[in-house]
Amino acid sequence: MYPKIIAHRGASRLAPENTMPAFKIAHQQGAEGIETDVQLTKDNIPVLIHDERVKRTTNSVGYVKNFTFKELKQLDAGSWFSQKFVGTPITSLEEFLQWVYDKSLYLNLELKNNKIDYRDLEAIVYERIEHYQLLNSTTISSFNPNSLKRMREINNDIEVALLLSRKQKNLVRNAQEIGANAIHLNYRLLNHSIVKSLRQANMAIRIFTVNKQSHLNRCIAHGCDGVFTDVPGQALNYRRIY
Ligand code: G3P
Ligand code: CA
Repeated sequence: MYPKIIAHRGASRLAPENTMPAFKIAHQQGAEGIETDVQLTKDNIPVLIHDERVKRTTNSVGYVKNFTFKELKQLDAGSWFSQKFVGTPITSLEEFLQWVYDKSLYLNLELKNNKIDYRDLEAIVYERIEHYQLLNSTTISSFNPNSLKRMREINNDIEVALLLSRKQKNLVRNAQEIGANAIHLNYRLLNHSIVKSLRQANMAIRIFTVNKQSHLNRCIAHGCDGVFTDVPGQALNYRRIY
């Protein structure tokens, strides 16, 4: 099986990351999955934004956690990217799930709680995924092992993935202790021995961020289960001609 092509923050080379236009373009291009980042507003509404602060991807400044949802919705999350997207709002998890639930897309919701450990983020997100009956097609990931443990305590079946950007001793054992059944690995860490040990432990392996043909070819050769890419349309072409 070739790796699933998963749009990283949507089709984030063509539209502002983590916004509805980026998700819609990814879907139109044939992406098989969508990855997005979840943080919490001051009033505990899950929203899709990568950074803890709004500065890089909106026309304002400050921490996401210090805005109410209503305040956050006033921000422009498109003009930083290009004129074409002026006025594009931040997307809530709810809006995203309402759009995605009938589309047969694989979902990866990354809980962005490694810098700010948002209280109850796991339970809030889990409840919405369950509501939309998306438990079987969703992976919850995080760089924060404690968060993954909490998610595993909420539900024993949902796929939970540990994110990894640096080498880690006893990776398989650590992941198993958390209750993770997948690893999302920085491309730089991909090698034969890590793939072998994760396979032996029956863990899914997905790689970020794979934008080059040569990198995708390596992921295919290693038998990875998925790749996160900013350019899903191109990645699908590369995979076709592999
Ligand atoms: O989930 C894979 C990847 O998105 C993790 O890194 O910084 O792009 O959220 P980042
Ligand atoms: Ca992410």
